[in-house]
Amino acid sequence: MGKLFISEHPLIKSKMALLRDKNTSTKEFKELVNEITMLLTYEATRDLPLTAVKVETPMAVADCEKLAEDVVIVPILRAGIGMVDGMTTLLPNARIGHIGIYRDPESLVPVEYYSKVPSSIEESEVFVVDPMLATGGSAEAAITFLKEKGAKKITMICIVASPLGVKGIQDIHTDVDIYAAAYDTKVDENGYIVPGLGDAGDRIFGTK
Ligand code: PRP
Ligand code: URA
Repeated sequence: MGKLFISEHPLIKSKMALLRDKNTSTKEFKELVNEITMLLTYEATRDLPLTAVKVETPMAVADCEKLAEDVVIVPILRAGIGMVDGMTTLLPNARIGHIGIYRDPESLVPVEYYSKVPSSIEESEVFVVDPMLATGGSAEAAITFLKEKGAKKITMICIVASPLGVKGIQDIHTDVDIYAAAYDTKVDENGYIVPGLGDAGDRIFGTK
């Protein structure tokens, strides 16, 4: 079974309090998503493999290490886009794929409408990002799609996860680790996480 990591870090908890606040502006919301994503990226990349390199300092040759593998970030459109900057701040050489999925408002079934992922992702460390893991349908569909494209090492990073969403991934993708800033137990009849933070896409892009 993949790992479930819920952050207990005081910085993340404080930022989550601001992020959840309905009075937080779009500008501040985006900045907080960036910062929380950066902090989660630090945790989620802890086990990335390294390769030895020699670096010439002004004094001598130092034995150093650098990331051994290609990293691919795949935001689930649209809200996942809000997490890309936070990730690329720490992983500037990462390649970016996109998967467009929306939930049918009636059935909550995920509908895929766009995809473009980097070539040859078989050996890449793939990070799927989406702020909300509610029923898990969207993330599960995105991960299934990426595996069909050849991805073998996939990690999910979200801001708020629910038990239903975690189970939705873990029941099908037992090899996928999940990192989240918060874990809220309830998903309401409309598929929204409660207390959650509302509609992440609308709050990031100011569409409501
Ligand atoms: C939201 C969110 C996730 C999905 C989570 O997207 O960004 O992609 O819902 O719900 P699930 O776990 O039940 O699938 P939404 O469908 O609202 O689309 P949007 O990002 O375009 O607003
Ligand atoms: N999508 C959101 O944006 N928020 C939720 O709470 C659930 C799905």
